[in-house]
Amino acid sequence: MAADDSDTIVVARLGSPIVIGIGVDGHFVSSDPSALLAHTKDVVYLDDGEMALVSKDSYNVSTNGGTVRQKQAERIEWEVDAVQKQGYEHFMLKEIFEAPEVVLNTIRGRLIPEEGKAKLGGFENVLSDLVALDRFAITACGSAYLAGYVGKYLLETYANIPVDLELASEYRYKSHVDHGKQALLAVTQSGETADTLAAVRLARERGLLTLGMVNVVGSTIARETDAGVYNHAGPEVAVASTKAFISQLTAFVLITLLLGRENGMSVKEGKEIVHALQTLPNILKQVLATSGEVERIAEKYAGYRDAMFIGRQSSTPMAFEGALKLKEVTYIHAEAYAGGELKHGSIAMLDESFPVVALAPQDTVYEKMISNIEEVKARGAPVLAIGTEGDKHLSSLADDVIYVPKVHPIVQPIVLALPLHLFAYYVGVEKGLNVDRPSNLAKSGTV
Ligand code: M6R
Repeated sequence: MAADDSDTIVVARLGSPIVIGIGVDGHFVSSDPSALLAHTKDVVYLDDGEMALVSKDSYNVSTNGGTVRQKQAERIEWEVDAVQKQGYEHFMLKEIFEAPEVVLNTIRGRLIPEEGKAKLGGFENVLSDLVALDRFAITACGSAYLAGYVGKYLLETYANIPVDLELASEYRYKSHVDHGKQALLAVTQSGETADTLAAVRLARERGLLTLGMVNVVGSTIARETDAGVYNHAGPEVAVASTKAFISQLTAFVLITLLLGRENGMSVKEGKEIVHALQTLPNILKQVLATSGEVERIAEKYAGYRDAMFIGRQSSTPMAFEGALKLKEVTYIHAEAYAGGELKHGSIAMLDESFPVVALAPQDTVYEKMISNIEEVKARGAPVLAIGTEGDKHLSSLADDVIYVPKVHPIVQPIVLALPLHLFAYYVGVEKGLNVDRPSNLAKSGTV
C-alpha cells in the first residue's frame, strides 16, 4: 500500500500463493483460500509473475510485463463451518473426528461396486498413459510423503506397479536416471509446498507426465499438473495434518484399485477392496469411540522425553507418521524404524525411560513384530502396542494396548492412523501445549 493511495493494495506473486477474495462489500487478499471463507467464496488465484491492483470495488491483474489479464473468479466449494471449531477444544481433534466423513467424501462417486473397480474423473484423460507406464514416482514432504510411502506399498503389493518414492526436497536437487515411461505423482494437502512444486516443475521439464493428489482446489500444484485427484477432505486448519492424511491414504487405495484392475487384479479382489472402502467410515467411527481410552493411555506417556515407534511393511510408514505427529505437537523426541532394523543399532538406546509404540496388527508380519516387542521388553522399555481386537496375546506382552477392528489389509494403515493421531493429540494436551499451532511451523511450507 502506498501512503498516498491507501484505498489500493498492490500484490504480486512469485513462488508463494496469493488469492484475491471477491466480496460484496470489498475485496480481500490472502495466501490461503480458507482464510477468506467467512467473507466470500469467490476467489481469483494469481499465477507466478502476475500482479494485481486491488481496491474495494475492483481488481486488475496484469503480468510483470504490463499485459492486462482477464481472470475469472472461481468458487470455493467449502462451507464456512469447516473452518470453525464447532464445539471441539482444538481444530486438530475436530479434524481427527472428521475421518469417517472424509473417507466418504474421498470415495464418493468413485467406486463401481458391481465391477470391483474405481473411477477417477481427473485421471480419465491420461488413463491409457498411466496403464502404459514402466514406473511410477511419488514425491511429497512430511506427512504427505508418508502417505506416499504407504501408497508405494499398496501399488507394489496390489497393482504390481514399481514405485520410486522420493522426498520432494531431495527430488528437486538430485540427478535423475531415465527409467522408460514414467509419471510423477505429487501428494500435497495445500498444493503450495515449495519443494513439491519445484519437483513437479522439474519433472515437467524432464518430459514426465505430472500428476497431483491435492486437497486445496485451484492451488498451484493442482493447476500445474497434467492430471490429478482431489482429496475433498475440506479445509484443514490445524498445522498437524490428520484428515488430509486419511484422505491421501484413501485416495491411494482408489488409485491402487484403478490401476490394479487394469494390471491383472481379479474382479473378486477388486470387489473386496470396494467393500473394504465402503465399510471403512463405520469402522473409523468405532475406532473414534475408543478415544477416551487413548486419552487415558496418553496421560501415562506424556512425561517421557523420548519415544520410539516401530512397524513392519505397510505399518512402517505409519510408525514414521506416529513419530512425526508426536514430535510436531508434543516436542517429545521420537524416532521410527521398521521393526527389523532395531537390532542394527537403535535398540541400544532403549531402557525403562524410552517407551516404544509397536504397531502390531494381525497381518503377515505379526509374528515378527511380536519378536520385536519381546526384544524391547527385555531391555525394560515400556510398550504401547496397537493391535487387532481380540488379540489377548498382545495384552499379555505389552504394558498398554489400543485395539482396532480387523480390516482388509489395504485399509489397515487408515485404521492405524486414528489412534496414532489421537495419541499425539492427547499427549500434547496433557502437556498443556497449543497443539493446533506448534512452535516453528507454518501450515503451508511455501518458502
Ligand atoms: O501441504 P502439504 O501436504 O504439501 O504439506 C506437507 C507437509 O508440510 C505436512 O504434511 C507436514 O508434515 C504436516 N504438518 C505434518 O503433520
